[in-house]
Amino acid sequence: MTSLSQTTSWKALVAHAESVKPKHLRDLFSSDPTRGERLPFVACGIYFDFSKHRITDETLRLLVALAEERGLKDAIEAMFSGRKINITEGRAVLHTALRSPKDEVVTVDGRNVIPDVHAVLEEMDVFANKVRSGEWKGYTGKPIKAVVNIGIGGSDLGPVMAYEALKPYSKRDIDVVYVSNVDGTDIAESLRDLNPETTLFIVSSKTFTTQETMANAMSARSWLLESLKDDASIAKHFVAVSTNAEKVTQFGIDKANMFGFWDWVGGRYSMDSAIGLSTMIAVGSEVFRQLLSGFHAMDVHFRSAPFDKNMPVLMALLNIWYTDFFGAETHAVLPYDQYLHRFPAYLQQLIMESNGKQVTLEGNPVDVPTSAVIWGEPGTNGQHSFYQLIHQGTRLIPVDFICFAKSHNPIGQHHQLLMSNVFAQAEALAFGKTEAEVRAEGVEESLVPHKVFEGNRPSSVLMAQKLTPEILGSLIALYEHITYTQAVIWGINAFDQWGVELGKALANKILPELDQESGAPLNHDSSTNTLIKRFKELQ
Ligand code: F6P
Repeated sequence: MTSLSQTTSWKALVAHAESVKPKHLRDLFSSDPTRGERLPFVACGIYFDFSKHRITDETLRLLVALAEERGLKDAIEAMFSGRKINITEGRAVLHTALRSPKDEVVTVDGRNVIPDVHAVLEEMDVFANKVRSGEWKGYTGKPIKAVVNIGIGGSDLGPVMAYEALKPYSKRDIDVVYVSNVDGTDIAESLRDLNPETTLFIVSSKTFTTQETMANAMSARSWLLESLKDDASIAKHFVAVSTNAEKVTQFGIDKANMFGFWDWVGGRYSMDSAIGLSTMIAVGSEVFRQLLSGFHAMDVHFRSAPFDKNMPVLMALLNIWYTDFFGAETHAVLPYDQYLHRFPAYLQQLIMESNGKQVTLEGNPVDVPTSAVIWGEPGTNGQHSFYQLIHQGTRLIPVDFICFAKSHNPIGQHHQLLMSNVFAQAEALAFGKTEAEVRAEGVEESLVPHKVFEGNRPSSVLMAQKLTPEILGSLIALYEHITYTQAVIWGINAFDQWGVELGKALANKILPELDQESGAPLNHDSSTNTLIKRFKELQ
């Protein structure tokens, strides 16, 4: 494949960017008074306003041409149809099959995987209903009052984000708790107030070998047995979600209590597989299926909409526009909904573990910057923390605002206050405040430069009527497909994560060294050796 920076469409964009950079959003709006009505569109119940971006119609045309030149259409089909696009692991990438209707056919290695997906969903339905109804009893015959999901990365961030997002739909008489960190504080604080007799653990791990999850699962097991004193209690208090039946059985969990998924579901793309079991127990199978239908609606949109009206494709292209042509290093996702407070953390793994890559599919260096650093916090909290830098700092930080017309908690004027802030922030970022405007306010001359807002800071606004399960599913799928689209343009593999290996291997080497007698030889670099020695002294 031609290196990206040498493609015709890339070169055209490089030249075009120079003509766009001097333009201010103020001018783009004043020369086109209908821009704010003309550009936005709706897909899957989400209104997408991208008019406050530093783009012209020509930019859009050139970005779409880039997507075409990079073969995005074929790449989308390759993913949906089950081709082994994760070439470094020899795997298909079929998270989209997890939300496909029963009558679809998606074949991997000659097998239609859709019946398997629905069979697991039905097992999850049955189990979740039993736990929710109290039919599933703990070892001493008491119904379950707390569900503890033990997992990390994709086996934690998606489920916890969805659990928090869907709280208005959840069964409040069952506590759902998430333990991920190998820091013993996480499990200690999580279990502190729980009763072993009424606690159910879901050990969620695709591989069932992840150090943190296995350590937490073993500690949970000891905590349970300390109180129930019988190995037979494990079957009533532990279930597993994994692709590794052998390791699950070795741990002592009955295979009948294991919910499976497949190697063609990447960890960070797995929250709508059985990894979502804790979410399903919290909200029930009907709401979980509404979530899946929202995912599916966005899948259909991504697969079928023309690129210039395709929300994930346009959002991906806009991110590339700023990352690669304006030098933006980071991208903020700012949900104006408290229920989405874990959404940025979830996106960090989804996007950065996927697209934090430096070589192409062919193994050559990528010749342009890849993924921006993703970060964010809910509004309006962030406004009183880091927004200063977005407004007046020296860096360009594109922003996605996410908001909803209706609140789940319509208390007094709160929602109008919230929404007035999100609209105001997008307006202030785009249009700022000129020197002339500051002076016209009678500001003392020495303060004028401090009070000027340059503006011209781009943002998207995503607005839906309400944060329903369907909308949540569509929002998540939106970002999944943004991630894939960017990977296709950059020519990288969004579905492997070799970069996490080295640290894991070194930690395994260091672990026994921490218990060795002091004075035992260490052969790391002098900094690591000294840190280990110092740690032992301090212990
Ligand atoms: O270390 C990174 C990672 O492999 C992620 O990709 C994954 O989501 C996480 O660890 C957890 O993996 P598992 O589900 O196999 O425990």
